[in-house]
Amino acid sequence: MLKAIIFDLDGVITDTAHLHFLAWRAVAQEVGITIDESFNEELKGISRMDSLLRILRHGGKEQTFDHQQRLALASKKNDLYVQSLASLTHESLLPGIREVLEDIRAADVRIGLASVSLNAPGILHALGIEQAFDFCADASRITCSKPHPEIFLAACAGLKVHPKEAIGIEDAAAGVEAINAAGMLSVGIGPGLDRAGLQLHSTRELTWKCLTDFWASRTVLIRN
Ligand code: BG6
Ligand code: MG
Repeated sequence: MLKAIIFDLDGVITDTAHLHFLAWRAVAQEVGITIDESFNEELKGISRMDSLLRILRHGGKEQTFDHQQRLALASKKNDLYVQSLASLTHESLLPGIREVLEDIRAADVRIGLASVSLNAPGILHALGIEQAFDFCADASRITCSKPHPEIFLAACAGLKVHPKEAIGIEDAAAGVEAINAAGMLSVGIGPGLDRAGLQLHSTRELTWKCLTDFWASRTVLIRN
C-alpha cells in the first residue's frame, strides 16, 4: 500500500536548481574555471562541499586550494545563493506542486522532504509550505550525499514507513539513484533520468492520478 511520497526540494518543489548554478558559476569564474548548464547536471543533488570539489576537479585545480580556502569559496557561493533566495515568494512553487501536495494530503498519504540542502528550512518558509510536510529529513545530520540512499532512508524512518511503501520524486540523476538504492519507487522530472521508474517532462504532469496509476502499475508488475 502506498503510504508516503517523498520530495526532493531544489528543482522539484521550486526552481532553485538554477539559482545554485548561477552562484557556482560566479564563484568558479573568480578562480578561473568555466562551468556550463550541462556540467551543472553533475552538481544536482550533491552537497555544497562535494559540489565545490567537483568544480575544482573539472577545472584541474583540485590541488590549488587548502581546506580553509575551500571553506571560504563554499561560503562565498552560499552567500550569493542566499541573496538570490530573496526573490522567492509563495508564488515560486513549480507548476502543479501546490495542487499535488493538496491532493496527497487529502488522500491521507504522508508527505516527506529529502533535500541535502542546509537552506531547505529557509526555502520552505519563504514558499510558505512548511506545514505541507509531515517530516523533513535534517540535511545537517546526513553524512553521504545522493546517490547514497541515506537521506531518503532518513525520510522514510521519520515518516515511519518502509521504503517499499513510498515513492520518491527527483530532478537529479544522483537523486533517482538514491531513491532506487533506498528500495523505493522513483519518479524523475526532466531529461536524462532514464533510471527512474516513471519519467515526466515537467512538474505539470505530476498529478495525484499519475502517482497512483504509477503505483498501481508497478504493484501489478511485482505481483506477476
Ligand atoms: C541540493 C542541490 O538540493 O542541495 C545541490 O541539488 C546543492 O545543488 C545541495 O549543492 C546543497 O545545498 P546547500 O543549500 O546546502 O548549499
Ligand atoms: Mg533537485
